[in-house]
Amino acid sequence: MTDRILMAPSILSADFTRLAEAVELIEAGGADYIHVDVMDGHFVPNMTIGPPVVKALSRVASMPLDVHLMIDNADSTVQWYLDAGADIVTVHVEACDHLHRVIQSIVAAGAKAGVSLNPATPVESLQDVLAIVDLVLVMSVNPGFGGQSFIPHTIERLRRLSALCAEQGASPIVEVDGGIDATIAPLVAEAGARVLVAGNAVFCQEDPVAAMNAIRAAGEAAL
Ligand code: DX5
Ligand code: ZN
Repeated sequence: MTDRILMAPSILSADFTRLAEAVELIEAGGADYIHVDVMDGHFVPNMTIGPPVVKALSRVASMPLDVHLMIDNADSTVQWYLDAGADIVTVHVEACDHLHRVIQSIVAAGAKAGVSLNPATPVESLQDVLAIVDLVLVMSVNPGFGGQSFIPHTIERLRRLSALCAEQGASPIVEVDGGIDATIAPLVAEAGARVLVAGNAVFCQEDPVAAMNAIRAAGEAAL
């Protein structure tokens, strides 16, 4: 497992009228991924962006697009996001009728496959797909909105996930999403997270690059 913390700023908290500038700024500042939150108004009570904006972002970003699908029926629409240029596609275990098949189709398209869990979904529900995913995204808030508070029980969930991975000999990278700032970063890093999503704590700050790098440094200090 890498001892580096990768930063995935969430453009949900950026200025939607100036997305290209936000991507360029954060990329030049050393972001590892750009986290793209896709919401459908069904699986989560909010709507954001869809394939055309993902496609536009792929034209301006050199770093991988980390596309987080908070949508029902990803089974039938995942291909849209792959075609739009997503490099990592993460689906929710709660929203897929055929999780294994969706993961297979992401891998077959040459992208990295991620699976995400809401805060009330047991990490053990992933045990039969851990070996075939590249990434597990543990939600540390209930999905739908930026700027929510980190749910402390996530730490215990990250530990259980690490133990489950070790037991299975699987080594997906663990990403955590929701309420992450420089105070929370050491706690989640110590519990096994290696990719930190941060929206508010990056894009709503006066200096987004400095804020991002402070979160990373705080996380790495705990490793
Ligand atoms: C929430 C999204 C997150 C969100 C994180 O449903 O999946 O990616 O943008 O935002 P913050 O870091 O502000 O909690
Ligand atoms: Zn997200």
